[in-house]
Amino acid sequence: MGEVEEKLVKSLTGETTELIPYLPYLLQDLWELGSDPGEIIGLIKKNVRKVKDLRILDLACGKGAVCVKLAKELGCRVYGIDIIPEFISYAEQKAFDFGVSDLCSFRVEDINISAARERGYDIVILGAVGEVLGSPEETIQKLKNTIKPGGFIIIDDAYSREGVLSNYLSREQWLKLFENEGIQLIEEKPVKEDELSDINDKNNKFIINRANELKNKYPDKAAIFDGYVNSQLAECHELENEIIGVVWLLRK
Ligand SMILES: C[S@@+](CC[C@H](N)C(=O)[O-])C[C@H]1O[C@@H](n2cnc3c(N)ncnc32)[C@H](O)[C@@H]1O
Repeated sequence: MGEVEEKLVKSLTGETTELIPYLPYLLQDLWELGSDPGEIIGLIKKNVRKVKDLRILDLACGKGAVCVKLAKELGCRVYGIDIIPEFISYAEQKAFDFGVSDLCSFRVEDINISAARERGYDIVILGAVGEVLGSPEETIQKLKNTIKPGGFIIIDDAYSREGVLSNYLSREQWLKLFENEGIQLIEEKPVKEDELSDINDKNNKFIINRANELKNKYPDKAAIFDGYVNSQLAECHELENEIIGVVWLLRK
């Protein structure tokens, strides 16, 4: 398997690419796969003018929760791209259910290809995607290229808690990076810690149930599904104890 598959499985907290065919099944009970759409809508409403005229690009949009809710709430046009075909079909169905199919377009594609082609957006969103576009520096540079001068970048990522050793940049390192890349930090929204463990517990229950179903159906692959559950739980522990999830609103 190649780098794209390795990063894909990592973006959904898996550890082996053997899991890829089972991801739509394991995640079938969830719509939101990372970002909180309400948080992103709030940031845009507060900081961006003429929201109805906006053209927004959501790279690695998952099952389209952010795209569909943005279109519904703000009346803007959104283009969501993800590599998993089942996620994109789900997003299209949700856009239809919410009556915003005319405002939403979706595409199945590796976002490394999309980011090299798409240009001229008012806002680009990268929500809970990790290093699919490369290092944080490379990611910011690629995102910058997709938007107009004065356009906005929304990144949902995380920074390490003070005094904790982790693979994540510290908040200061992120701020330095934004400065070096010539983008202005407009607002940052750290995750609401009090809601975090409830959301994680609820999502984990769904995933554990589906993993158990898969274990019954494919006993020879039980280790893969157990491994997925364990890595989900470890990621939740990391989010609750070692790192702080954050949404950054930045301006080019
Ligand atoms: C944690 S989910 C976040 C989804 C969405 N942004 C959200 O916040 O709900 C990560 C997403 O990245 C997608 N992904 C990973 N690698 C990708 C790639 N190379 N191209 C497109 N999508 C990719 C996965 O399919 C998955 O939907």
